[in-house]
Amino acid sequence: MRINQKYRMLQESYLFSSIQKKVSAYQEKNPSAEIIRLGIGDVTRPLCPAAIAAMHKAVDEMAEAATFRGYGPEQGYDFLRTKIQQYYQKKNVRLSLEEIFISDGAKSDLGNILDLFAKENRVLIPSPVYPVYVDTNLMDGREIVYMEASKDNGFLPMPCEDVKADIIYLCSPNNPTGAVYTRAQLQKWVDYAIRQDAVLLFDAAYEAFITDSGCPKSIYEIEGAEACAIEFCSLSKTAGFTGTRCGYTIVPSALKRDGDCLQKMWLRRQTTKFNGVPYIVQRGAEAVFSEEGMAQCRDNIKQYQKNAQVIAKTLDMLGIWYVGGENSPYIWMECPNGMSSWEFFDDLLERANVVGTPGIGFGENGDGFFRLTAFGTQEATQMAMERLKEVYGK
Ligand code: MLT
Repeated sequence: MRINQKYRMLQESYLFSSIQKKVSAYQEKNPSAEIIRLGIGDVTRPLCPAAIAAMHKAVDEMAEAATFRGYGPEQGYDFLRTKIQQYYQKKNVRLSLEEIFISDGAKSDLGNILDLFAKENRVLIPSPVYPVYVDTNLMDGREIVYMEASKDNGFLPMPCEDVKADIIYLCSPNNPTGAVYTRAQLQKWVDYAIRQDAVLLFDAAYEAFITDSGCPKSIYEIEGAEACAIEFCSLSKTAGFTGTRCGYTIVPSALKRDGDCLQKMWLRRQTTKFNGVPYIVQRGAEAVFSEEGMAQCRDNIKQYQKNAQVIAKTLDMLGIWYVGGENSPYIWMECPNGMSSWEFFDDLLERANVVGTPGIGFGENGDGFFRLTAFGTQEATQMAMERLKEVYGK
């Protein structure tokens, strides 16, 4: 019997688990420290009233034989898929219901989608990057080529024709850097993917934070994308569903590789390995897409956007370089005084009792940088920034 030895290529623990361990150890030694967490991108505002009401109603339905539901369709109920179809229509993107798959979040599907691809494929991944893209490919033993995101390219790497790739990952607005691609830049990526006969895996989990009309919210706003891209999205950040779990993946019928239709393959994979998102959760998600739900979610997002502004203003005041925060809930800052990512993590924790995410946790290129999230409460964000000014303002 052999295990999958590729797991030996992975870091000992997942980035956010390692941070959690470090913070718990510090808290144990310093029980009176009032730690503010701006590390993991987890939301703090409660679910919107429209989603709560819909889920209460769905719970009641489950209590009656006449309205009780057992197994649902693996790819999601049509009532939710129709709402998502309409949501895309507002962005001038036409999807058929079969192209929309309901999931328990973007993270799972970003990993699961790799079932469709041969292990010999070459993967192009930006660095720094959301660790899930890297780890899931390492688990499969695929060759990874990194494209450098840096201060020089505004943390938005562009394609290079000499680099051959079969699978390409893009995330815009980006996690971890908060940088956002423009329409023209995404067009270059789509054109490159088509020339390479590659599949573009586009993570749109933070699309709800885009305010700039020059930055697309979906890859399908770009000409030709339906023939090369799969899009992953989630209600985690749009509607505070990090604990409730619901997302969606778009696999266009026009996307064919090696003579096969990826939408059909994904359907086959999902019906075999997945039994769908709970009915109650899907009813909550449906309500998020109602007019009332959308307005309530937008209000929550506005609060987070205010936090991002507070963080950005503080960094401006301190003369610290950063990117993000404008069309994104993440701010990617340079560590002050030439500190490495982990040095700054410790310094910030010890001197300000504030937790962030060390840039190096997202890849080599992230060293010397640090991620702060705008998903904290307004009070905590404000207080964290006061502490930053006090400690690094001299
Ligand atoms: C993050 O902090 O990068 C995100 O919360 C991770 C995730 O969405 O899985």
